[in-house]
Formats: sequence, C-alpha cells, structure tokens
Amino acid sequence: MTELGGLIARRIALTGPISLADFMAEALGHPRLGYYRRAVPVGAAGDFTTAPEISQMFGELIGAWLAERWLAIGRPAPVRLVELGPGRGTLMADALRATRAVPGFHAALDLHLVDTNAPMREAQRLALRGYAPTWHERFDEVPDGPLLLVANEFFDALPVRQFHRTAQGWRERMVGLDEQGGLRLALAPGATPFASLLPDADEGAEAELGEAGRALAGAIGARIAHDGGWALIIDYGAGTAGRAASLQAVRGHQGASILDRPGETDLSAHVDFAALAASAGVAAYGPVGQGEFLRRLGLQERAQALKQRAKPAQENAIDAASARLIAPDQMGTLFRALALGDGKNAPPAGFTDTPSDDTPRTFT
Ligand SMILES: C[S@@+](CC[C@H](N)C(=O)[O-])C[C@H]1O[C@@H](n2cnc3c(N)ncnc32)[C@H](O)[C@@H]1O
Repeated sequence: MTELGGLIARRIALTGPISLADFMAEALGHPRLGYYRRAVPVGAAGDFTTAPEISQMFGELIGAWLAERWLAIGRPAPVRLVELGPGRGTLMADALRATRAVPGFHAALDLHLVDTNAPMREAQRLALRGYAPTWHERFDEVPDGPLLLVANEFFDALPVRQFHRTAQGWRERMVGLDEQGGLRLALAPGATPFASLLPDADEGAEAELGEAGRALAGAIGARIAHDGGWALIIDYGAGTAGRAASLQAVRGHQGASILDRPGETDLSAHVDFAALAASAGVAAYGPVGQGEFLRRLGLQERAQALKQRAKPAQENAIDAASARLIAPDQMGTLFRALALGDGKNAPPAGFTDTPSDDTPRTFT
C-alpha cells in the first residue's frame, strides 16, 4: 500500500467507512501525497495525454473562441482570463499566441490560473512566461470582474459519490477495510442522506453525484451573472453521466483499480453536463461533441493551413492529430463542450447550429 493508502486506511479504522467522494478528495488532493499535488500526470511520460498536448490547433481554436467572446461582451478591460487546471500550460500558451493580433485583447487580459499542483505550476510558469499569471488554489480566489474562463479535463477530477439501487432502495458505495486491513468497496448497509436526492430507478441501476462540480459551476455562474462573461468547459462525459458508475482509475496510460495505489493513480469520472448547466443558473449552450465543436471552429481549415507549411512527415502528424481530436471513435464524441454565459450576447461560436444535443437552454 502507498503511504497515502495507509493514512486513508487508518482514518477508516478510526472513524468507519468513507464515501468514494471523500476517498477521491484524499487520493487526488491530500496536501502532501495527493495525486494532483505532486504528480506530473499529463504527457507521454505521465499517465495520460490531453487534447492540447495532441495538437497546437486545440488551444489556438479555443483562443479564437475566447477572443470572439471578449468582443461579444464589449471588450472589457481588464478581463479576468481564467484557466482551471492548466496542466502544462500548453492550451493557454497556444491560445495566447493565436490571439496576439486581436486589437486590444492582450492589453485587456489579466491571467489567472487555478491549480493545486506545484510541479504543474512550474511547467505553467515556463510555458506562460511574459503573461504574468497569478496562481490560485481555488476559483473563489480570482478577483471580481468580467470573466473568460476555460477548463479542459478539470471537472472530471472533482470528487463524486456513487450509488447502487438495491431491492431496498439506493445504497451509497463506500470505502471500508477488508480483513487484512486493505481498502475495499462495499455498499452502505442502510440509506445515507445523499441517496434521498436521487430519482427512483430499477434495481441494479447505478448513479453518481458530484457535489463539488455542481458547487463550482454555481460559483462560475454567479460570477457571470454578476460581472458578465463566458465559460467554456470541455471534458469527457457520456450522455449517461450521472446515471452510470463511470469513476475510473488510470496509471501509466493503463486502466487500474480505483483503490489501487492512492496518490499514484489518476481518478476521474464522466462529467454530468446537465447538472453543471442547471447548477450554473445562467444561459447554457451544449453540450456538443468535441469533434463537432472543433469542426465548427475551423479545425480542418487550420490543419490545411498548417500542412501547407509542413514537411511530408509533419503532414501525416497533423492529419493524425486532427483525427484523434475529432473522430467519433477517438475524442470526437466522448469529449463534449459546454458554454455558460450571461445570455445577453449572440450565441457563441461552435454552438450556433442546433443538432440533437446542443439546443440552447436558458436556466433562470
Ligand atoms: C487532467 S489535468 C488537465 C490539464 C490540462 N487542462 C490539459 O488539458 O492538458 C488536470 C489539471 O487540473 C489540476 N487539478 C486537478 N484537480 C484540481 C483541484 N481540485 N483544484 C485545482 N487544480 C486541480 C491538475 O493539477 C492538472 O493541472
């Protein structure tokens, strides 16, 4: 067992089983040993690869999206440009490079990065030299003011509770101890308070509830309603998010068991976009599949432009990266984009058409 696994086991021995959300919060966020406090997870040498690390086009198109929203809200200066969980800083560096020519945009930007991870912050500092970012542990610490926010693969790392519908009703899945003192999953023997929040379902059904994600979406929505602005949230989440057991563990680009080696293993759950939109309480657009979103923003045209200046080997790499980002059997449909805004502006790029799942909805 890892040192953190031992600490969690000791806590359970003293106070009893803990929720999966509490386990996830410790495994990812423990101040000294948590995965997102000390690991460098993103990239070939880490545990997984993310869209901005696949191609510069991802961050460039998001930069254009942010600049267009800045124009749409009347070019406020300063505007708080916020990224939640910037990883290696690649998305933001590509976004800023791509928007240098937008008159007045960079002069108006006040860059804020929300990340708990010291090694990642160092990577961000290097990638974003020259843009004078301010770092925060939490979104609430970002000063008031008009907001442009982006979060890619951030909400999936926020803790979720998990439930199973038994013949007796919903039962929460807890982390307890086996006879050898190791960590094990087991259903709570009786009803727990959060189970009463779930709609009834057939026996055998699974459900997840992410209080942290909902609370954060609520805080972002409140800021947008008060100060104006837009947020773009991209993450993976099947249409069944919230109604399935999606929590998964990854280590070294391989699937792992959820309880295995806490602090050394990434944990993530599908994002329940409908719950985030409802919690935000402002105008919401989407979610729309990442493939469709990037296509509408002009990914294929950008790929063509890059290929014209590329060597033959690079052309193949550009094609492969485009396919990875947009193909339905790769990141194109599993990953989805949601936009939140104050509803006073024209709909944002990428969400303007209305195919099945991105009809604009307004929550008041
Ligand atoms: C999966 S990585 C994604 C990185 C980047 N957005 C990308 O697309 O490459 C998650 C990022 O969020 C940060 N993070 C995870 N949980 C966090 C939390 N609760 N508070 C602040 N930052 C967190 C991690 O340190 C990391 O930089």
